[in-house]
Amino acid sequence: MKVTIFGCGYVGLVTGACFAEVGNEVLCVDVDAARVERLNAGEVPIFEPGLEDLVHRNTAAGRLAFTTDPAEAVAHGLFQMIAVGTPPDEDGSADLRHVLDVARTIGAHMDGYRVVVDKSTVPVGTADRVREAVAAELHRRGVQVEFDVVCNPEFLKEGEAVEDFMKPERIVVGADNPRTVELLKLLYAPFNRNHERMVIMDVRSAELTKYAANAMLATKISFMNEMANLAERLGADIEKVRVGIGSDSRIGYAFIYPGCGYGGSCFPKDVKALERMAAAAGYEARLLAAVEDVNRRQKEVLLRKMEAHYGDRLPGRTLALWGLSFKPGTDDIREAPSCVLIEGLLARGARVRAYDPKAMEAVRRRFGDRDGLELVPSPYEALEGADGLALVTEWKEFRSPDFDRIRELLGEPVIFDGRNVYDPDLLAAKGFAYYGIGRGRSV
Ligand code: UGA
Repeated sequence: MKVTIFGCGYVGLVTGACFAEVGNEVLCVDVDAARVERLNAGEVPIFEPGLEDLVHRNTAAGRLAFTTDPAEAVAHGLFQMIAVGTPPDEDGSADLRHVLDVARTIGAHMDGYRVVVDKSTVPVGTADRVREAVAAELHRRGVQVEFDVVCNPEFLKEGEAVEDFMKPERIVVGADNPRTVELLKLLYAPFNRNHERMVIMDVRSAELTKYAANAMLATKISFMNEMANLAERLGADIEKVRVGIGSDSRIGYAFIYPGCGYGGSCFPKDVKALERMAAAAGYEARLLAAVEDVNRRQKEVLLRKMEAHYGDRLPGRTLALWGLSFKPGTDDIREAPSCVLIEGLLARGARVRAYDPKAMEAVRRRFGDRDGLELVPSPYEALEGADGLALVTEWKEFRSPDFDRIRELLGEPVIFDGRNVYDPDLLAAKGFAYYGIGRGRSV
């Protein structure tokens, strides 16, 4: 089948490459000419495991191509997928400018039946606005062709996006007529072989499903972080509590890991946007506001522990930071707790030596040559001349480090473990002061 995808970002590229991999002819469009040029030269601009291979294989096979030409793009695909960004407005609601630009482009060039598919995370009611935008362009041109608008949100996790696309847990399709449902079933048939994974519903429910899923996951995390903060004050160990509650199958073990806050391009933005949507509908979403608030505070939790440990010695101290991306497996630092920590330390006159396996370039772009921040090429170099180590993102390579070497390199043997990766007893035995998240009396 022929598929056009607007937006060569993370969602668009993964979606395009995966549809091509199963034999479809995919054309990806972007307004960013430099990006399209790089992609046509075989350069994949984002780090996502498995993606580069997919892109190379499918472009070589002629099933995947990139363009900036909107006319060519609209002429190509029966499916016109919108996978452009919906950045937050000043008030936190999703900015639909790019989505509606694409809708107008489709209407401006369409000359036969098309299925317009919203893949971007969009507020409830967006499909109606997309429909109106396409129709207005058709009307302006005096052209009469049919089209449908479908909501088909993505549930890809950064770092596992290709795997998530190829083996989805569910494929949500919000449609309001049976013909589009049949077409989407055909398109997704290769990913829906052994179990029925398609969940068909009306458009508005599908739009809300995406936000509800992310908000639920963010809620689990903030809830656990709140329990962790409480555990510290009550002298309990959240890691024991986590296992204790996770064993209840109604609760489950997934997504109940406490830490130094959630980040990324989705949870923070989507929780806020849902809250704004609620407010616009005349409903005060108190739980969502609290989820957001707990997370904002949690991103400062390592800083608070450092303030408590060093007291008025903090100015002038050097802290080594391991892990800067918002989670392992990605070079993305959007809303990352590491950035809050770096800002906080620099503002307090401390210095930072930081290392990340993938996100150094992104941090360099964000902080420039900021005084007091040094990015170093290996984890142990970060420790040289440092007075303490903070683990911020739990990359695998930090799981089992050489603690003796760490102790020798650090001016003072203290570890702030933002992800509860290390064993507090082992570290105590090795002579470290250890601060985890919610592990006994370590506030
Ligand atoms: C999230 C969702 O998991 C995807 O299903 C969704 O498709 C995606 O957003 C999106 O809307 O596009 P992602 O942002 O890639 O995916 O990252 P997650 O793996 O969900 O992690 C989010 C944050 O939560 C990270 O900062 C992570 O460290 C934190 N987290 C996660 C915890 O603090 N504790 C946990 O138990 C799990």
